[in-house]
Amino acid sequence: MPLPNVISLNASEPHHALTIAPPPTGLALNGRIRVPGDKSISHRALMLGALAEGETTIAGLLLGEDPHSTAACFRAMGAKISALNTEHVTVQGIGLGRLLEPEDVLNAGNSGTTLRLMLGVLASQPACFFTVTGDSSLRSRPMSRVVQPLRQMGAELWGRKDAAFAPLAVQGTTLRPLHYHSPIASAQVKSCLLLAGLMTEGETTITEPALSRDHSERMLKAFGANLTVDPDTHSVTVTGPTKLNGQAVVVPGDISSAAFWLVAGAIVPGADLTIENVGVNPTRTGVLEALALMGADITQEKQRLVAGEPVADLRVRYAGTGDRPPLRACTLAGDIIPRLIDEIPVLAVAATFAEGTTVIQDAAELRVKESDRITVMANQLNQMGARITEQPDGMEIVGGTPLTGATVDSYTDHRIAMSLAIAALAAAGTTTIHRAEAVAVSYPDFVTTLEQICLT
Ligand code: S3P
Repeated sequence: MPLPNVISLNASEPHHALTIAPPPTGLALNGRIRVPGDKSISHRALMLGALAEGETTIAGLLLGEDPHSTAACFRAMGAKISALNTEHVTVQGIGLGRLLEPEDVLNAGNSGTTLRLMLGVLASQPACFFTVTGDSSLRSRPMSRVVQPLRQMGAELWGRKDAAFAPLAVQGTTLRPLHYHSPIASAQVKSCLLLAGLMTEGETTITEPALSRDHSERMLKAFGANLTVDPDTHSVTVTGPTKLNGQAVVVPGDISSAAFWLVAGAIVPGADLTIENVGVNPTRTGVLEALALMGADITQEKQRLVAGEPVADLRVRYAGTGDRPPLRACTLAGDIIPRLIDEIPVLAVAATFAEGTTVIQDAAELRVKESDRITVMANQLNQMGARITEQPDGMEIVGGTPLTGATVDSYTDHRIAMSLAIAALAAAGTTTIHRAEAVAVSYPDFVTTLEQICLT
């Protein structure tokens, strides 16, 4: 039976307030849904397509604001990218080293991946000058993590605080190879240097302290780059100069977007949701391991390999019984953190529904995401009655205290907006999330899907 007035969106430009009012009898959350294409893979498909020779086709691209930023930047440098859609995007590559010097500032919008990966491309593109910027969130995020190793390769970059922050200016030049031991496990740092290494004569190696997502490695190999991976030392080497050949890329659903529904299914009594076609690359499935540790009932169905990436349908069923919290607390720390870094905001929501104290450590990176996700999540969930204490590198969440509806704010961070919406589904009373339009960065149809699963 339809549940009226559960969700409403008040669009008073420029900001949208999302109101969620579950009925006192609770929600019936069920159905089969799909999530949009993986954001990381979408960026890489557009970028490698633009840098390759010949045509690349992309099926399943994410139509969020972030990939639009990537497409706009590479169009401005000469790539012919068709209108973005989920069925069939074509990219006529320009070839490595043949980018055109853009006439205007390249704008990465809200997207750290666009900016950091692109810096590796620009810095290694001889004889072209580039200026790059982003929105206010991106202009406050650290760029030194890529600027420093690029400079060790001979790159020429300028900007505020010794090029620590965008806007940045880049004079492309011929670089020298480097073996870089990254102090952080970051796919953006790794991918930036791999892209710089494509154009650089010799072996460019990146060693990271723990394995971060490996989509760049998989896709670069598929495009024909000379690349070797040493899993024992978390090292990857590209030997340049190398050429890329256009490919047919199929983008799976984004596990980071699926994570919202997985947590919803784990905390809303009676829920039974199946999320079809989700990418389950092992460097991204930390969220499944964490939810399994917490006692959630999640199964992988129809496991398959699609264009070099593992894919499955994920089914989540509410596993609580009686009055006890449906989940149990866990500790998340160490090597698992890079494999679930983007899912920590929604895992914090899960932890408020768990028996015991959940501890999240080694996640200081959260402070330099689209917002300071430790402070923002702790403050916003505490408004709803959670008991979260911030730590410098994580948080402690005393679970089992029922949440109540409140007025909260996304701080313009897409994943905060969606995590708070999931908390609202299982809270008593009405929650209003301000600046909810942020969801469009990675999940423009989030509210539509929310309505769909609440009405089936
Ligand atoms: C991404 C890498 C991660 C992740 C981000 C996307 C990527 O960041 O948090 O949302 O596509 O490479 P870091 O590499 O900075 O950890």
